[in-house]
Amino acid sequence: MAKLFEPYAIRGVEFKNRIVMAPMCMYSSHNEDGMVQEWHKIHYATRAVGQVGLIIVEATAVQPQGRISAQDLGIWSDEHIEGLAEIVRLTQQHGAKTGIQLAHAGRKATVDGDIQAPSAIAFNDKYKTPVEMTVEEIGETIQAFKAGAMRAKKAGFDVIELHGAHGYLINEFLSPLSNKRTDAYGGSSENRYRILREIIDEVRSVWEGPLFVRISAHDYTEGGMTAEAYVEMAKWMKEQGVDLIDVSSGAVVPAKIDAYPGYQVKFAETIKEGANIATGAVGLITTGIQAEEILKNNRADMVLLARELLRDPYWPYTAARELEVEISTPQQYERGWRF
Ligand SMILES: Cc1cc2nc3c(=O)[nH]c(=O)nc-3n(C[C@H](O)[C@H](O)[C@H](O)COP(=O)(O)O)c2cc1C
Repeated sequence: MAKLFEPYAIRGVEFKNRIVMAPMCMYSSHNEDGMVQEWHKIHYATRAVGQVGLIIVEATAVQPQGRISAQDLGIWSDEHIEGLAEIVRLTQQHGAKTGIQLAHAGRKATVDGDIQAPSAIAFNDKYKTPVEMTVEEIGETIQAFKAGAMRAKKAGFDVIELHGAHGYLINEFLSPLSNKRTDAYGGSSENRYRILREIIDEVRSVWEGPLFVRISAHDYTEGGMTAEAYVEMAKWMKEQGVDLIDVSSGAVVPAKIDAYPGYQVKFAETIKEGANIATGAVGLITTGIQAEEILKNNRADMVLLARELLRDPYWPYTAARELEVEISTPQQYERGWRF
């Protein structure tokens, strides 16, 4: 049996395999109110029929000014729960577990009005200059993550992932390149970690299920974060009850990234070994053999795929054939396997 298709459990939630659909913004909330549309329901349910073990719904904004674009999904009001619950119902029906990525875009928000960040430094000249958050505003955002977690729970999600990567708000606090604060939320690694510590504590007070954090493990810039520097924070996350670190990289500052097959796997491995915590590997993972190598060599505990699952929503079948494993199929499709 391939490890890719072995069930894996966290806090009593069993994933039927180790294949995770990485969060991917669809920018399809056309009415610009954060509501789920038909597109989302079909898109996510298709990957569940395709036998993905865990589907993580795209970056979903906890505050309207924290949207990457006006078409992002939202979870800042109770009205968002119904549509999200429908995604969960449709995906769980096909045996997938379903997660949601709670997000705030920080200085990378492109919505109208003021945008917020730890420091008043624009990402580059194409983005607005953000307003430095007051301590009170930081507190409101922490509460918005907590409220988002409560709504995610009501919607029936199995997993919550906090978006701490790709240069969005949490990442902006964690990296010394974007956080130039001189108060308790900036400076030392303890201080830069403070907002994430407080978000995790608040979310954990209302969420007993699996909790993931996505990080950008490397800033690819002198003076920035590295996977080794993240080991310290990963240990704190583990102490606080985070179950898995989803290890991505880059995008907190403009930097050139040499992306090759599995280019971020080594970061997942460093954090898994250094902090003794489960990790997810992501980034140009496209074949069953590649996924199996990562898992069997204990470089990560789950593998996340993004673009390959856009090209091939039934990728788990493709990987199963490659690894010569037989996996179950919806009864309606069984004829497809009889020759
Ligand atoms: C269309 C698209 C949307 C994305 N949106 C998100 C997102 O909402 N949250 C996130 O953390 N990463 C997002 N990403 C990054 C992916 O989750 C993933 O980390 C990246 O694409 C590398 O994996 P891949 O090589 O398998 O595509 C997005 C990527 C794509 C292609």
